[in-house]
Amino acid sequence: MIRILLSGCGGRMGKVVAELCRQREDLCICAGVDPILPHLDFPVYAKYAEVREEVDVIIDFSFHSAVVDLLDYAVGAGVPVVIATTGFTEEELALIDRASQKIPVFRSANMSLGVNLVCQLAKQAARFLPDFDIEIIEMHHNQKVDAPSGTALMIADEIASVLPEKAEYVHGRSGICGKRTRNEIGIHAIRGGTIVGEHEVLFSGYNEKVVISHSAASREILANGAVCAALFLREQAPGKYSMKDIFS
Ligand SMILES: NC(=O)c1ccc[n+]([C@@H]2O[C@H](COP(=O)([O-])OP(=O)(O)OC[C@H]3O[C@@H](n4cnc5c(N)ncnc54)[C@H](O)[C@@H]3O)[C@@H](O)[C@H]2O)c1
Repeated sequence: MIRILLSGCGGRMGKVVAELCRQREDLCICAGVDPILPHLDFPVYAKYAEVREEVDVIIDFSFHSAVVDLLDYAVGAGVPVVIATTGFTEEELALIDRASQKIPVFRSANMSLGVNLVCQLAKQAARFLPDFDIEIIEMHHNQKVDAPSGTALMIADEIASVLPEKAEYVHGRSGICGKRTRNEIGIHAIRGGTIVGEHEVLFSGYNEKVVISHSAASREILANGAVCAALFLREQAPGKYSMKDIFS
């Protein structure tokens, strides 16, 4: 039985991960951390330092600033961690890098297999269509607190890695913003209702347009990806891992 510590257990994604684990015999949530202290069928703590249970792996769907205490605990306990949370600052990303020298750290802004394929297809399209303008449009529910989505940035970073010139990310446009430059990647965030997650990568050229898109119909695909990542991570040496490592 693999014992998972669920960080952010009271949130939307935390609840879906917990439900998925209830349906599996090889996994259990041994404890959760969430300052709102939800009543659940496993012990919940307000802080990582309070966790007393033995833990094999951590799954984190919480809030970006939680990563400082989360990594303190994970490194101290020598436990691998799957970070699904998004919206990190540069300093927090540097902390994650540092922790990965001591423990296995898996991070992906999107845990779905389909989105990770979209990243690879978009990268290929950017190589194949060098004169096309690239724009990324993402849509999420009205409760999402960060914008653009971590997934939109992940797609943009993949594309930027193959462009001949340094890409400039332009977030939305308004007013007399001037003409589009060649090295721009436009990124646009739309928020509304209960949309789980939509991402569209638009390649717009002379008289033609290519669109690569992904639509998530439920949060289960994301929870399932996080659980797959946790199982994968338990076998790994310290280092940084992402979805590419699972599916390569
Ligand atoms: N990688 C992916 O595939 C993926 C998918 C969905 C959401 N996310 C990201 O996961 C995060 C959570 O998403 P959500 O929709 O469940 O949000 P949510 O707001 O519903 O839940 C977040 C939970 O984290 C808790 N929390 C806040 N601070 C904490 C702390 N210091 N320690 C522990 N828990 C803390 C909150 O109380 C809340 O219950 C967001 O950053 C979101 O962008 C990633």
